[in-house]
Amino acid sequence: MKKLNHVVESQQFDSELLQHLFSLADSIKSDPTAYQCPNKIMATLFYEPSTRTRLSFESAMLQLGGRVIATESAKEFSSFSKGESLEDTIKVTSGYADIIALRHFEIGAAKRAAGASDKPVINAGDGAGQHPTQALLDLYTIRNHFNNIDDLTVCMVGDLRYGRTVRSLCYLLGRFHKPKILFVSPIMCRMADDICQFLTKNGVEWEEVEFEEALEHADCIYMTRIQKERFLDMDRYAKALDKHRIDTHTLPMIKPGAIIMHPLPREKEIHPDVDADPRMKYFEQAQNGVWIRMALIYMLLTEQ
Ligand code: CP
Repeated sequence: MKKLNHVVESQQFDSELLQHLFSLADSIKSDPTAYQCPNKIMATLFYEPSTRTRLSFESAMLQLGGRVIATESAKEFSSFSKGESLEDTIKVTSGYADIIALRHFEIGAAKRAAGASDKPVINAGDGAGQHPTQALLDLYTIRNHFNNIDDLTVCMVGDLRYGRTVRSLCYLLGRFHKPKILFVSPIMCRMADDICQFLTKNGVEWEEVEFEEALEHADCIYMTRIQKERFLDMDRYAKALDKHRIDTHTLPMIKPGAIIMHPLPREKEIHPDVDADPRMKYFEQAQNGVWIRMALIYMLLTEQ
């Protein structure tokens, strides 16, 4: 099996590694105290806002018996504001911690950080690039519900151009047998060509469809927020907003056996009125982030 030194992008995970990660996450979930990394320190360096990713990484490290040092709002509160390069910050931090979780605003930042660090670096989101740990917990949630990923129809809705979670999830779905991906987005938020070409090359059927058609056919509907922070033109952002919503009007169009996911945070794309429907999995999905991140940290710190 491939050894993980850093977690930078979803393409690092082949079927064997995914199976190992998910089965370790299952074991941790059933007995979190059985897996421990005592005295290990995690540094969380977050240059962009976060609730779920930072807190679930920190919770994961604490539950593993480790400790956490943190810089949130690192654009303002780290020495980035004095002009320090990412590479220098990472070199210094790797002397203080055994593992680093990095969220950054630039595509490719995690790869640069991994190149500068002699300790494992985990990409906690790099601009509009990738968010591999989110995609892993997403896939874990899908697998836990359906027992299988093969042959599922997964629909991704919303900001597919700037949303890093859907990019990372497409790479992972490419590892399975005949999943079908439906894309639904405002015209200015269509999935980028590099991902479409990757899917075609890897034999994954994909199609751009209307929202209603996707709701009718999908096994898994993966909603996303329009990423306001990535738009330079606020008129374009306004035009992309509120096109596709799951609410009490659209809910009846969804298959009884389907699940609805969202990496969160949400805006108006899923109305809270439908939260109680048993098909809504986004809060369970967020909880799964702890088990997957515990498993990843454990692998990076103990399976070298
Ligand atoms: N899903 C996710 O990345 O959420 P946060 O931005 O709150 O970490």
